[in-house]
Amino acid sequence: MDRKLRVAIIGTGSRGTGCFGQLLSGRNDVEIAALCDPNPVRMRGAAKILGITPNFYTSMEEMSKKETLDGVIITSPDACHHDCAMTALELGWNVLIDKPLATNVKDGKEIIEKAKKVGKTVMIGFNLRHHAVLKRLKEIIDSGTLGKVFLAENREFYDGGRTYMARWNRLFSMTGGLWIHKASHDFDIFNWLLGFPKPVRIASFAAVNVLNEAGLPFELENNIPAGPDCNSCHYKDICKDKWLLSDKEMEQWGPEAVKEDGYIKNRCIYMTDKDNHDNGLCILEYENNVKVSLFESFIGSKSDRLYTINGDKAIAEASLSERRITITPRWGGEITTIILPLEGGGHGGADPELVDTFCKILRGEASSTSTAEHGLLATALGQAAEMSRRQSRMVNLDEIL
Ligand SMILES: NC(=O)c1ccc[n+]([C@@H]2O[C@H](COP(=O)([O-])OP(=O)(O)OC[C@H]3O[C@@H](n4cnc5c(N)ncnc54)[C@H](O)[C@@H]3O)[C@@H](O)[C@H]2O)c1
Repeated sequence: MDRKLRVAIIGTGSRGTGCFGQLLSGRNDVEIAALCDPNPVRMRGAAKILGITPNFYTSMEEMSKKETLDGVIITSPDACHHDCAMTALELGWNVLIDKPLATNVKDGKEIIEKAKKVGKTVMIGFNLRHHAVLKRLKEIIDSGTLGKVFLAENREFYDGGRTYMARWNRLFSMTGGLWIHKASHDFDIFNWLLGFPKPVRIASFAAVNVLNEAGLPFELENNIPAGPDCNSCHYKDICKDKWLLSDKEMEQWGPEAVKEDGYIKNRCIYMTDKDNHDNGLCILEYENNVKVSLFESFIGSKSDRLYTINGDKAIAEASLSERRITITPRWGGEITTIILPLEGGGHGGADPELVDTFCKILRGEASSTSTAEHGLLATALGQAAEMSRRQSRMVNLDEIL
């Protein structure tokens, strides 16, 4: 194909603009032909930030009447993925759905069925698979250097996770829970690193321990409440968690955009209603008796994913932020340390490769490696982990898959 790919972005918020919009508008083999978002102010703000002049649509049906597209990228909130993907597939487009596939297994299965019926591709935005450290870790596991892997962990600290409590991400109804919204990345990485063994049972504990009213990091003056959002908060000068919108952010998230849909991006993370967690722990067992644990904390300024993979020949430990892997042989001997060079682009260089892969799929030069089936497995693990925490019990994957 020697013409430019024609792509549309559906959902022109943070990820649609800051990741996919930026990356696609920087390529000379792709044209962002259209943007689609129910909020016209945010959509036009996105185009202004990106410096592009696409066509604008508030519905996909309307877009399909005027546009011939090679593919669409879905970056709407998680709870909208099902409807957006079903419509996009029905309209005949190949689709990249940013993670997660869907907010529950039933919706995920429907997307898979629809894609099969219409013969279109679904790729999931599992960008971590494209992270240099995790790609090397997978090579190390596959090469047999660690021997037979029986135990693994990932401890994730995420500074940006605090902002979940300011937005739709804080609500189960919009996400299916953070074990889906956030951890679908991490479940997918475990599945992928370990060669997709069958998951058997899962248990999790998770709660809001800090980002609630009792956790406010300052004393209230004369009972003046904190919030409701950072820009209008009485305590904005002293709050260490304030998120004041910049002039650039105002294009998409300022009062004009709020007038359209009421979506305020920087609600007080302490005072909002929420039913998702700010920290949690999850354990999972696969059928080959491999056990993994996942720790996630959205409190504090540290951001890293710290992996330990234990095999019967060696232990590998990795830090994504330090781009380091250390391998310690079982019976002593030389400890190997690998430092991977810094790469430009979001998520440690993973986002540009994700976008490049999608473009290759649209050109027929590659097939999807992070498939809808992989997305379904990660969603199922997240749904089971949410069931476990809410019902205080271990959940067998057979119950939902
Ligand atoms: N892969 C990653 O690393 C990663 C990182 C962050 C977010 N995400 C995912 O990206 C998606 C978007 O997250 P975000 O932080 O950009 O959200 P956001 O709130 O910043 O943007 C969402 C946009 O979707 C629009 N929207 C709402 N309903 C819609 C609908 N029915 N159809 C089309 N658009 C609609 C909103 O108006 C908004 O512009 C989520 O699914 C999230 O889980 C992935």
